Amino acid sequence: MAIPGSASSRARLVVLVSGTGTLLQALIDHPPVNTEIVAVGADRYGIEGLVRAEAEAIPVFVTPLEDFPDRGAWDRALRDAIAEYRPDLIISAGFMKILGAEVLKDFTVLNTHPALLPAFPGAHAVRDALAAGVSVTGCTVHLVDEGVDTGPVLAQREVAILPEDDESSLHERIKQQERELLVEVVGRVCAEGIPQERVSSS
Ligand code: GRF
Repeated sequence: MAIPGSASSRARLVVLVSGTGTLLQALIDHPPVNTEIVAVGADRYGIEGLVRAEAEAIPVFVTPLEDFPDRGAWDRALRDAIAEYRPDLIISAGFMKILGAEVLKDFTVLNTHPALLPAFPGAHAVRDALAAGVSVTGCTVHLVDEGVDTGPVLAQREVAILPEDDESSLHERIKQQERELLVEVVGRVCAEGIPQERVSSS
């Protein structure tokens, strides 16, 4: 439980995923200095993100919401599953569930989001940006609080929307930027701790 002020020893990372896990793969392929992914957690079985972790012999755990009577019970179970790995930092990398108060009370959590927050929060950020007709969108790495994509922004990158873009082509170009930005910000946070002011990167 180090981090806020950091530059301690090797930072233990738990990465949370719900889908294909290409952001996780970026952290595996370009590990920030002095970090180690000690576990990958998911809210569902059978996803590529878990296969990527298992291919690297990274321990995995799965905590599906539907296995619990309510969100509070799921929140506590997820907190306990994460705590097993004694992480310094949690990275929500395409984890498509809102984290609860118990997880957020015990851990520092970073999230990456495919839009320039505060614009287009929520689960359909790429679709929403296209529907709004904006010419520039992007990605954001931020600290997670109890809101939906409302926590303090640590870094952002812009991505231009092309006339021929559909949701899939635009999301893929955004994810190219997200992968680099996430690796950069995780490295910075593990080395320097959580910045007092909001840092912007392009
Ligand atoms: C990313 O765009 C992330 O911001 C969003 O879901 C996507 C995850 O991509 N929440 P992947 O599963 O890492 O490929």
